[in-house]
Amino acid sequence: MGTDNQVAIITGAASGLGAAIARELSQHNIHIALFDKDKEKLIELSASLEGDTEVFAVDVTNENEVKDAVAAAIKRFGTVHLLINSAGITGITNIKSHEVDTANLQAVFNVNFMGSYYTSKYVLPHMLSNNYGRILHIASIAGKEGNAGMLAYSASKAAVIAMAKVQGKEYAETGITVNALAPAVVRTALVDALPETQVKYMTDKIPMKRCGTLEELASMAAFIVSAKNSFTTGFTFDLSGGRATY
Ligand SMILES: NC(=O)c1ccc[n+]([C@@H]2O[C@H](COP(=O)([O-])OP(=O)(O)OC[C@H]3O[C@@H](n4cnc5c(N)ncnc54)[C@H](O)[C@@H]3O)[C@@H](O)[C@H]2O)c1
Repeated sequence: MGTDNQVAIITGAASGLGAAIARELSQHNIHIALFDKDKEKLIELSASLEGDTEVFAVDVTNENEVKDAVAAAIKRFGTVHLLINSAGITGITNIKSHEVDTANLQAVFNVNFMGSYYTSKYVLPHMLSNNYGRILHIASIAGKEGNAGMLAYSASKAAVIAMAKVQGKEYAETGITVNALAPAVVRTALVDALPETQVKYMTDKIPMKRCGTLEELASMAAFIVSAKNSFTTGFTFDLSGGRATY
């Protein structure tokens, strides 16, 4: 299956990695349902893209909103082939586990894990009826390694990596692949909002001694959800400048 006329849903599309992936996929003639809670920024992005896109204001922590938005996107575009989950938050960071606020930890899990679970739950039946699909969950190096000071974020991303492993196996014989991607640091609004000591902790660990770029991220994401990437599922791709060599 070529990329022409495929349909993608991208969450967290209003900013950072999600917006960069939307830009890349729109250049491959992919129709895109842009999901984010920030409608204004989605409208701005949509206006800047040449391809066929539609804006859906959706809070991924709300199961009913996700269910309705997936149905609306499928009604608008006819079907769905690709799902990229990029909506995410760090929550409060630069704190030790005994200082973590339980409500904040739960809020981080609700976006990073539950949000990606809800979208995949409602997209998978359509992919199954097509005998084809590509799901990409954006995880993080924090989910593989556990960043000190980032319990909620690291644990929620480890859960996302586990979900990709589970779903990869569950749908392995259906034409659907499910993978994750674990970036180290790419400068976005999410990183800029972190305490500088937390950013230094993360970037100092990158052997290439630089952050990844949005272009590097978007081209790897485009490959992961391409038809050519057909024999890899349940895997967590690395984008860490050499930090994770496993
Ligand atoms: N930037 C990095 O260095 C980096 C590294 C590893 C992983 N990641 C992951 O990549 C993903 C994107 O991060 P980013 O750097 O682009 O961040 P970002 O803050 O630039 O973008 C995140 C987007 O998610 C949206 N969002 C947040 N909560 C939402 C909700 N409840 N419902 C709908 N949308 C919601 C925000 O509105 C925003 O547009 C996240 O999952 C993040 O954890 C980022």
